[in-house]
Amino acid sequence: MELHERILELAVSRSFFFPANEPYGTTGGFYDYGPVGVLIKRKIENLWRRRFIYENGFHEMESAIVTPEQVLVASGHVASFADPVVDCKMCKARIRADTLVEKEVKGWKWDGKVESITSAIKEHGVKCPGCKTGGDGALGKAYMFNLMFKTAIGGDHSSAYCRPETAQGIFTAFPRIFRNHGAKLPLAVGQVGKSFRNEISPRKGLVRMREFTQMELEYFFNPGKQGIEGFETVAGKELRMQVDGKTSEMSVRNISEQGIAANEIMAYFLALEWNFYIACGVDQKRMYFRVLGKTEVPHYSKGNIDLEVETSYGIVETIGNAYRTDFDLSQHAKTSGQDLSVFVEEEKKKLIPHVFEASMGVDRMFFCILEHCFREKEAPKSKTEDPKPGAAKDWEWFDFPPAIAPYDVAVFPLMKKDGLAEKAEEITAKLRSTLGAFYQESGSIGRRYARADEIGIPYALTIDYDTLKDETVTIRYRNDGKQERIKINELEGLIRKNIEAGRVRLE
Ligand code: GLY
Repeated sequence: MELHERILELAVSRSFFFPANEPYGTTGGFYDYGPVGVLIKRKIENLWRRRFIYENGFHEMESAIVTPEQVLVASGHVASFADPVVDCKMCKARIRADTLVEKEVKGWKWDGKVESITSAIKEHGVKCPGCKTGGDGALGKAYMFNLMFKTAIGGDHSSAYCRPETAQGIFTAFPRIFRNHGAKLPLAVGQVGKSFRNEISPRKGLVRMREFTQMELEYFFNPGKQGIEGFETVAGKELRMQVDGKTSEMSVRNISEQGIAANEIMAYFLALEWNFYIACGVDQKRMYFRVLGKTEVPHYSKGNIDLEVETSYGIVETIGNAYRTDFDLSQHAKTSGQDLSVFVEEEKKKLIPHVFEASMGVDRMFFCILEHCFREKEAPKSKTEDPKPGAAKDWEWFDFPPAIAPYDVAVFPLMKKDGLAEKAEEITAKLRSTLGAFYQESGSIGRRYARADEIGIPYALTIDYDTLKDETVTIRYRNDGKQERIKINELEGLIRKNIEAGRVRLE
């Protein structure tokens, strides 16, 4: 079984995520986050807010999801946010056409022209991968299929779409936010929210979804000033960079000075992203930044660098960094007829700001974290040994950094009787004012420890008879099963301090 298949099984059974609308059969590309997964997802999003927005003094917003057609005409999405597809006349399947031909015809690479796909299908007798008919014209002409979900607004049914990226809402809100918040560049605005892409045949679980969450930051700056405050704090940091297929460690300063990144601003954010990924549990040995070639860069960008992560699905792109220049604001100015330039006081002139964008997919990142934090322990040999009662197979658990674990701590009374459950409930209630506490009182203590490990809770507390005498509890550590006694009145502060420091054992 591939790791991603095991992860999917665990995710479904442990309430990380599962297919949406299950009783009606599943529709590819839509997933629900369950009670455990949603806690992790919120922590990832909140850590992003802290590191990318609040610590830099930037702004956050939440823009509307349903977007009038004109906005997306201006951005270029109506005309060109599309993938090539081909329909099977026999089984009626719609198939992503470029990848189909690439898979079937060795060495074939798409040149971007839809006609080339139609010719290749004919010439090589490419068959429908579903019903296996072909060669006789079962697959028709390839054509471009727009990936946006279309809808209609109100009584006049004016055309609109569910946004394909959160970024456009930030661009259209920029003039208002600029005026309301100091009318000065640079100005940066981020948001966390859902975006929608009607993928032809989404597979790969959270890696390719039709409805997904993005964390996007748009940094608006004067194109004459491509530096950024705080650069020196990260300039010496080494990152793994892939340029023209070659991977090497480079300092953030060199990435900027050698023109690997479009500017100092982009290099600065690469460092933040690298640190953020490590803080969330992605293995730094299995990730790198890749500088996109000229033909890969999106229509709006003057330079892109992606973060790529190695997974059992292969390489997954999880962050896109783009120098979007003044493309979007200029397009919106043209289409809306509004003046979207700003006055720069020091230079006594008006200009359209340039934009650097850092765009991350939360769901893909979540999946990478699950794969990279997945661990197995050998099943215990005896009852007294650290647990997985009754387990025949290895014990599967998650080594999440404390900062993103679904709960900070688990609390278990050794027994339900003799006032132990009441004491444990009292401690849980106190902890819950500032920490996420998971409480369970039934089952053997070994089984409860195992349950906590299985969802990656870093610390577990046991309330026993000594607790009633001396106000101490046993703390057990997820990663090594070691235990020690701690005073109840020191618990909260200690746990908080160690979560902040990313430690899986209290110090
Ligand atoms: N905002 C860039 C993207 O969604 O691809």
